[in-house]
Amino acid sequence: MAANKKLLVLPGDGIGPEVMRETRRVIEWMDRRRMVSFDISEDLVGGAALEAHGTPITDATMQAAKDADAILFGSVGGPQWDKLGFDLRPEIAILRLRKELDLFANLRPAIVLDPLVDASTLKPEVVRGLDLMIVRESTGGVYFGTPRGIETLADGSKRGFDTESYTTAEIERVARVGFELARKRGNRVTSVEKANVMQSGLFWRQTVTALAAREYPDVAVAHMYADNCAMQLVRNPRQFDVIVTSNIFGDLLSDLASMLTGSLGMLPSATLGAVQPSGKRHALYEPIHGSAPDIAGKGIANPLAQMLSFAMLLRTSFDMEEDATLIETAVTRVLASGLRTGDIAAPGTTPVGTEAMGAALLAELDRMAA
Ligand code: IPM
Ligand code: MG
Repeated sequence: MAANKKLLVLPGDGIGPEVMRETRRVIEWMDRRRMVSFDISEDLVGGAALEAHGTPITDATMQAAKDADAILFGSVGGPQWDKLGFDLRPEIAILRLRKELDLFANLRPAIVLDPLVDASTLKPEVVRGLDLMIVRESTGGVYFGTPRGIETLADGSKRGFDTESYTTAEIERVARVGFELARKRGNRVTSVEKANVMQSGLFWRQTVTALAAREYPDVAVAHMYADNCAMQLVRNPRQFDVIVTSNIFGDLLSDLASMLTGSLGMLPSATLGAVQPSGKRHALYEPIHGSAPDIAGKGIANPLAQMLSFAMLLRTSFDMEEDATLIETAVTRVLASGLRTGDIAAPGTTPVGTEAMGAALLAELDRMAA
């Protein structure tokens, strides 16, 4: 019998624990109904870990993350921790996980589900059927580059600085993830940088161009400046299939792309490491929405992005395509039935809370499995 799959659950702060609670019910459902067994451990992360242990993520939690087959992450951060020193901020937890597990490829889909086409602030005819994937580099660039700091100059004034830098290997490995994904989708990659003003951007473009010619002659590749990409995403988002870009541009463009779909509350993401010789691949799955402190504790957050992150986990880390599709189909059906949390509710309709949405999803799973 195959060993149980080791799952580390890190709910974090804000709405994280609320949406994770509903997702745990989906995981338990899978355990019961689909004959898969997970060894689940849950731990504190972000502000919650800071309060309990004085650090946004303990070394023990880091070790558990390294041992896990997959990590299901909620969200971290909140205004009560905004004034802390740089190394104590809750966000350090996710940055440390990405860096120390070498999770270099952050996959951020932006998909418009048909029942939600009216939730977008863009016209339905612009976003209907949208299905694009942003592959964001997530262990390099200005997020981690050195030198960085705030220094005092000779005249007593100060200077803050960071470093954007990318090596051939860093660019190639994330670009390969994008090209491989494109082959299974629309076979088109748009590589995004600022080759017009940044040396690292020019190098990015040269490197992707050479890689494409050498290893992916069958994939259509285009190059675009990041500012133009932002504009094109709003003007005509369906022109894109896979976008491959740096850490900082990916951060910005994925927030933009997610809002094309109408709700941050609907989008999952995956952050993947390299496949190791043992076949194991570190992987972390999280909703895009963050901790949403403004609605935390009210029981109104949308749990679907967290659940869809779990579906992505099943598909990507455990090859459980059928089970992943089951969850995704249940989500679409629940939405098609008209049920909405506040973030995706049409004006004048009555939204349901987190728990009711979770219960509806479970009921739909029951119906589908019957
Ligand atoms: C994201 C977030 C993080 C980032 C923060 C929380 C450090 O904005 O995952 O996009 O900037 O990468
Ligand atoms: Mg971000």
